[in-house]
Parts: sequence; C-alpha cells; structure tokens
Amino acid sequence: ERTRVAVIGAGPAGLLLSQLLHERGVDHVVLESRSREEIHTTHRAGILEAGSVRALVELGLDRVIREGDRHDGIDLRFDGEMHRIDFRELVGESVWLYPQTEVFADLAARRTEQGADIRWQTSVVEILDHDGANPGVRWRDAEGREGELRAELLVGADGSRSIARHAFPEQLRRTWVHEYPYAWFGVIVEAPRSAPELVYAESERGFALVSQRTPTHQRLYFQCDPDEDPDAWDDARIWTELQARVAGPDGFRLAEGPVEEKTVLRFRSSVVEPVRHGRLVLAGDAAHTVPPTGAKGLNLALADVLILAEVLEGWLAGAGDDALDEYGRRSSRRVWRAQNFSAWMSRMLHTTPDEPGFERRRRIAELRTLVESEAGRRYLAEGYTGWENVR
Ligand code: DHB
Repeated sequence: ERTRVAVIGAGPAGLLLSQLLHERGVDHVVLESRSREEIHTTHRAGILEAGSVRALVELGLDRVIREGDRHDGIDLRFDGEMHRIDFRELVGESVWLYPQTEVFADLAARRTEQGADIRWQTSVVEILDHDGANPGVRWRDAEGREGELRAELLVGADGSRSIARHAFPEQLRRTWVHEYPYAWFGVIVEAPRSAPELVYAESERGFALVSQRTPTHQRLYFQCDPDEDPDAWDDARIWTELQARVAGPDGFRLAEGPVEEKTVLRFRSSVVEPVRHGRLVLAGDAAHTVPPTGAKGLNLALADVLILAEVLEGWLAGAGDDALDEYGRRSSRRVWRAQNFSAWMSRMLHTTPDEPGFERRRRIAELRTLVESEAGRRYLAEGYTGWENVR
C-alpha cells in the first residue's frame, strides 16, 4: 500500500496537517494508536493564541469564535492583589479559551466528513527505510492485523512519547532537556466561574492557576511535588489548598464544587534538533515540549504544522529534500522563544523546594516591576498572545 504522506498521530497537529494536505490535494493517510473517543475525553490545553484562532477560522473551523470565550487579558495575582494585563490595549490581540478536546473534535469531524483516511487504534510499530529509497511504516491495528504503508514522506506528529523520533540515529539527534523541581496538580471541578479571566497566582504556598472550561465546569491547577499522589487529596483538602493560595486582603474566593478529575502534570522542557532526517520530519510534542505555564504547547504544535504545510508545497512540487530543512529553520525560532517564555513564566511564578527568602522576594519584585511597567506588561502580552511566524 502506498500514499504520498504518512502522518503519524491524529492529535491537533496531525489532523491540522491532514486538513492542509487535503486542501492542497495531497494524498495521505493518518495513523493513530488511540481511539477517537480516548483523545476526545483526555483533558489537555485550554488556551488558543490569536494566530491559532485565525488559522482555524481560515479553514472554516469557526466554532471557536462562536462557542469559545475571547479573553482580552489575564490577571497576575501576588501579595494577595490582582494585576490585570490588558492584551487588547497593549498589543491589540486576544486569546481564546477553547479546550484542546474541542479543537480535536472540530478537526476530526471535518476530516471525517471529507472522507479522510484516518486509521484510529492503529499503532506504528516500526519506521521503515526513512533514510532510503522506500520510506514507510509498519502498523498494527486493534485486531492485531499488521501491514506496511509506503510513503514519500513520513511525519511524526505522535506526541511527547513519539515512536517516530526514535528512528532518528542517536548520533545525529541532539536533545536539550530541562526538568523543573515542581509539577501541577490539575483538577476539573463542577462549579461556576470564579473570575472573568484566568488568574495566575503567586503565593507563599506555591503557584495556583484559575482557568475555566464551561459555565458549569472549571479547570484549576496548583503547584505540587512531581511525585505527589492524587489519591492523597480528597475534595476538602484540594479546596483548602486552592483557597489558601488565592487568599488576600481583597477577600477573593473560589466558587467550590465537586472535583471530577485529578491528575499530576510534570514539567519538562525539551527540544529535538534537527527535526528532519531523510524523509521523516517531526512536528508538535514529538519535536519539543514546554512546561504548561503560559499555554504554549498546543499553539506551538499548530504553528509547526502551518509552517510545514507551506514548506511541503515546494518539496511536493519537486524541490529536493534539502528544501525540507526550511521547516526546521523557521519553526526553531518560535520553539526557542516559546521555551524561553514558558520557562520565564514558570520561574517567576513558582516557588522551589527550600526556596531562599531572598529569592521569593526577588520574584515578587520581578512581578511588581513587570506589572508597573507598560513595557513589561507589553512583553508579557506579546508572548502570551503569540508571535507571528518568523520567516
Ligand atoms: C490552561 C493551561 C495553561 O497551561 C495555561 O497557562 C492556561 C490555561 C488550561 O488548561 O486551561
């Protein structure tokens, strides 16, 4: 069996690429190890940058505008006070609260309607000859059937535990990794909103983030130890901790309700370079991960694919394989900017185990300097709403 492009992974990156290939009339197959249902019900990111929204709307996927919530700013909270960063006023942009599960649902529905060849519950078990004359993948489906699919190009959009990435020879692959001494305890709660926009809260007990999902369900996170056991936390303990982290002289309180899900999210920054080897390229979390603070991961994955689709036009029209390196050259700048932004926001807002008193006071001074300077607020607003693709 043969196709032009084999896309490994049907998350937002793989499906967006599928949509863009479809519009360019490029024959392709998408292979995904999980079921559509499993992806649709796994809570992931919540915030889309202005450019991500524009890209979806241009493809006719405008449910984000109709049903998502436009957020014109965020609140930074420290010393028990809110400090609003007004994106619209500062950079004329907004972000959208629109869960990744909905981005996935919209893309999957559209591609299915258009008759896309998406093979759910089909794992890629081996990458074949990606550096030779006959690239392809060996796959295995839920019934245990196996087969080979040959393609001119293989795209690994298969997430942080990418199979595709491991086909890159060790000696040619460079990986930069940074680990953080903290994680997030994430919960979905049934409760009304506590604030109109997201609240990024610094506190003596550690960071907390008040995000949202729907009018009846909210997404909240609080900093925890990477080895924290979610089962050690019942609803009462979770609410006491969250309330303590957002408490202040203004009397701000969170609206409480039953906790429906709890998970610990580890923090990790990683970048793999190069992102092409032979006829195999990586996109999204397969190529890089960022810590969640600042909501860059999903947006980076979408930006990768928008660049890749442009670069593929020339390559599919006959430019040589070296033309593919334009993708890595262009995506890398944005990836490293996002690494810096995510690491900066993380370090400014989180405490560390045994953090010296000096260091915490310095962080609060950094936050105060930032919010009291228009240049500082604009720097945050530019990064949060997203940079234009760098050419
Ligand atoms: C969400 C996650 C983030 O990392 C962030 O910075 C903002 C919002 C969320 O899941 O809603």
